[in-house]
Amino acid sequence: MGGQAQAGDGPVVTPGDGSRRDFRAAVLDGLSRPQKAIPSRYFYDERGSALFDRICTLDEYYPTRTEIGILEACCGEIGRMLPSETAVIEMGSGSSRKVKPLLDALKTPCAYVPVDISREHLIASARALARQYPQLTVIPVWSDFAKAFSMPALPAKSRLIFFPGSTIGNFTPEAAVSLLSGWSRHIGLGGHLIIGVDLKKDPQTLQAAYDDSAGVTAAFNLNLLARANRELGATFDLDAFRHRAVYNADEGRVEMHLVSSGEQRVCVDDQPFTFAAGESIHTENSYKYLVEEFRDLACAAGYRSLAVFTDSATLFSVHVLQVRKLRIGEAAL
Ligand SMILES: C[S@@+](CC[C@H](N)C(=O)[O-])C[C@H]1O[C@@H](n2cnc3c(N)ncnc32)[C@H](O)[C@@H]1O
Repeated sequence: MGGQAQAGDGPVVTPGDGSRRDFRAAVLDGLSRPQKAIPSRYFYDERGSALFDRICTLDEYYPTRTEIGILEACCGEIGRMLPSETAVIEMGSGSSRKVKPLLDALKTPCAYVPVDISREHLIASARALARQYPQLTVIPVWSDFAKAFSMPALPAKSRLIFFPGSTIGNFTPEAAVSLLSGWSRHIGLGGHLIIGVDLKKDPQTLQAAYDDSAGVTAAFNLNLLARANRELGATFDLDAFRHRAVYNADEGRVEMHLVSSGEQRVCVDDQPFTFAAGESIHTENSYKYLVEEFRDLACAAGYRSLAVFTDSATLFSVHVLQVRKLRIGEAAL
C-alpha cells in the first residue's frame, strides 16, 4: 500500500464512537449527577473542531504555538532517537498540523494513522495531509481513543503514538495512567510515545488561555449545548448559560463550566432537568503538570523517559517515552 493514501476511502469506523446514541447517554447520565457534567470529548463535532482551531490562533492560547515551536526545534533530535520504517499513530489528531515536523524528521515513516472522534474534521484533515505526503499511507480511524478499537494492519517495523495538544490533561491523573498503559498494546514493548503536556504556571496566564477576550472559548464551550439541541432535540437556551473557566490550584487543573444564570428547566429527549441560579455543568478539566510529575505518571503507566523538551519560558513540555512494560488486559507484563 506504499505511496497510496486511504484517506479518500473514508475512515475505518469502530462501533460506539462519538455517535448520537453515546452522546445522548452521556448527556442524560451527566445531567443526572449532583455536580452536572458532560464529558469534554463531546465538544468535538464539526463546529466544535472548527472553533478549537480558532482557539489555537488566539494570543492568549499559548499552548499551540509553544508546542509547535518545541517540535520544530527538537524534532531533528527526536527523529534520530527513533527507528526507521515507523508507523505514526496520532491520538486526537484534530487538524494533523503538529505531526508534520515529526514526519519530516523521521527516517522513512511508512504509515500515519490519525485517530479522532470528530468525523468530518478527521476526514478533511487526513485528506489534506495525504495530499502533502503522497508517499505515506494515511489511514484515518474514527473512534473514541479511550475505548477499545481495532488498529489497522500496518506495514511497519515499529510504531509510535503521537499525542500532542495536552489532551492528556483532560483525564484525571489516575485515568491518564490507565489510558497510557492501555495504549502500550498498540505500539508494543519498545514502542514510543511522544506526548505534549502543558505545565503548571501562574493562574492568570492559565485562566486567560481558557477565557479569551474574543469569546471564542466561550462559544466552544456553549457549542456543547447547541450540539445537544441540534442532535438530541434538547431545549437549552444558550443565552441562559455563561462560560466560566477557573484554575483549581488544589487539583492542579483548569476547569470549564457552563453556569446557569437563573432557575430554569431544560428537557433532553423529553427528560426534564432543573437548574438553580448559579448551578453549573462541568464540561472540561485540563490538568497541568510539573515535568517531574508527568515523568512519574508515565513511569507508573509502564514507560521510561528518553527525553523531555520544553520552551525557554517552560510553559509547555514534550516528553519522549518508550514502553518498558506491556499491559495485556488488566495484567502488566
Ligand atoms: C485539544 S484538541 C487537540 C487537537 C490536536 N491534537 C492539537 O494538538 O492541536 C483534542 C483533539 O482530540 C479529539 N478527541 C478528544 N477526545 C477524544 C476521544 N475520546 N477520542 C478520540 N478523539 C478525541 C478532539 O476531536 C480533538 O481533535
